[in-house]
Amino acid sequence: MASSVLALEWFSGWRAFRKSQPAKFKCDYSCFEVRDLSYQAPGTELSLLNAVNFSLPEKSFGLIFGRSGSGKTTLVQLLAGISKPTSGSIHIQKYGNDGNPIQSPEPLSTGRVGIVFQFPERYFVAENVLDEVTFGWPRQKGDLQMKENLAQNLQRAINWVGLSGISLDRDPHSLSGGYKRRLALANQLVQTPDLLILDEPLAGLDWKARADVVKLLKHLKKELTILVVSHDLKELAALVDRSWRMELGGILREEPLPI
Ligand SMILES: Nc1ncnc2c1ncn2[C@@H]1O[C@H](COP(=O)(O)OP(=O)(O)OP(=O)(O)O)[C@@H](O)[C@H]1O
Ligand SMILES: [Mg+2]
Repeated sequence: MASSVLALEWFSGWRAFRKSQPAKFKCDYSCFEVRDLSYQAPGTELSLLNAVNFSLPEKSFGLIFGRSGSGKTTLVQLLAGISKPTSGSIHIQKYGNDGNPIQSPEPLSTGRVGIVFQFPERYFVAENVLDEVTFGWPRQKGDLQMKENLAQNLQRAINWVGLSGISLDRDPHSLSGGYKRRLALANQLVQTPDLLILDEPLAGLDWKARADVVKLLKHLKKELTILVVSHDLKELAALVDRSWRMELGGILREEPLPI
């Protein structure tokens, strides 16, 4: 008897507590979505990607893993607009708080995708850090507003990746492995991409630089939607919101990390 009174009191208290809680806050969100993406290497019958489907909500971290030669780099090159898919679509879809789409999907502009290739330091072209970060910027005389925006973006990108302690005069090739990766990232971040892709960001680095890059990605994850291709599953596991295995023949399946 005493216990049922206690239980009743507990239940009334719990109900009063629940009523006093505000409704769970939900809001609109966007998803980066890939639908039925297929790719045949030009001039061949070889199918490198086979109806790939996946989606990644904004500000989340996706990881694609899988056997060497399965098509991971081929996929991210399509997402970045470096090659054109044979069929399928890549778009951004906005959803309302009821989980239903609130407008037609928008094709993803490749200008809104940043990609850091495997071993990006091999492609450094400039003689100093400043020229490397701003490589590809318009050189013609722009208006003052445009120059101010570019300067602000540069400052923000340098702070984001933790390069502010490095002299902008330094030869990019003289930096440590971890700092070279930061520089390659800063180059992509000045454009504030909607989607940041990294192909094997830890490959070829020593343990210290690897830990450094993982820490940096953890920090960037708060601001950006990130898609990584990697064989280094254990080191990245703590960051991952969604993961997929690419199987030989370019077949992608959502799957938890096998660690
Ligand atoms: N232009 C091309 N023409 C023909 N075959 C190609 C072309 N580009 C890539 N391939 C082939 O496509 C397959 C997928 O290559 P891809 O580089 O995407 O694999 P990956 O999953 O990134 O491998 P890794 O883990 O080794 O980086 C491989 O068999 C590769 O040889
Ligand atoms: Mg690859």
